[in-house]
Amino acid sequence: MFAGDDGSPVDLRRRRACDFPFSSRDRGYVGGNSLSQFLASGQLGKSEEIPYALLLGADPSKELVEKYLKSSEIYVARLANEIIGVYVLYPINSEKAEIKNIAVEEKFQGKGVGKLLLEDAFKLAKAKGYKQLIIGTGNSSVGQLYLYQKAGFEMTEIRWNFFIDNYPDPLYEDGIQVKHMIVLSKQL
Ligand SMILES: CC(C)(COP(=O)(O)OP(=O)(O)OC[C@H]1O[C@@H](n2cnc3c(N)ncnc32)[C@H](O)[C@@H]1OP(=O)(O)O)[C@@H](O)C(=O)NCCC(=O)NCCS
Repeated sequence: MFAGDDGSPVDLRRRRACDFPFSSRDRGYVGGNSLSQFLASGQLGKSEEIPYALLLGADPSKELVEKYLKSSEIYVARLANEIIGVYVLYPINSEKAEIKNIAVEEKFQGKGVGKLLLEDAFKLAKAKGYKQLIIGTGNSSVGQLYLYQKAGFEMTEIRWNFFIDNYPDPLYEDGIQVKHMIVLSKQL
């Protein structure tokens, strides 16, 4: 959980340990090879363990995560047999789905995996017949807002006080209180 056990505010940034900008030398390459060619994506097997550590890195409420997982599909990116990224697709109606959660293993962040997961989600959601994908993030998540807009999402809505009303303890990121959810949408 991100919320402090002693009730004190917790800085999400410290837990995310995702320090951008990366130098261009660090981007997309592992051992001199493009990471993408070694990645395999697909739905998490029914008998496989849910990658909660990753999911909770993007959404600190286990209660909320468990709630939306009941009606969602979980897709993962694997490097060899290791799950290094995840996204959760939640159907809203026959035309619209939401990426409820997206996360990349800390040591692989900043190497293009998040971008690949989004591209995978676009293809998959389109193949399933959805016309629109939405994704929500906090008012403080500047890097995520950058990533989503660069991938073609547009801001469509603000859910005022979402993180105050739905999370038990105050959340902070880079010293900014996470109060509102910015909802972004992309036509497929
Ligand atoms: C957000 C997250 C999924 C992005 O995955 P990633 O693999 O690190 O992102 P990528 O390497 O594919 O980045 C793609 C682009 O977005 C930018 N970007 C991604 N995350 C960023 C951040 N936090 N701050 C600044 N820029 C960021 C990258 O610099 C890159 O830009 P470029 O295309 O101009 O080179 C990942 O950092 C993560 O798991 N964070 C912790 C969990 C989280 O916050 N999830 C989202 C909750 S809304």
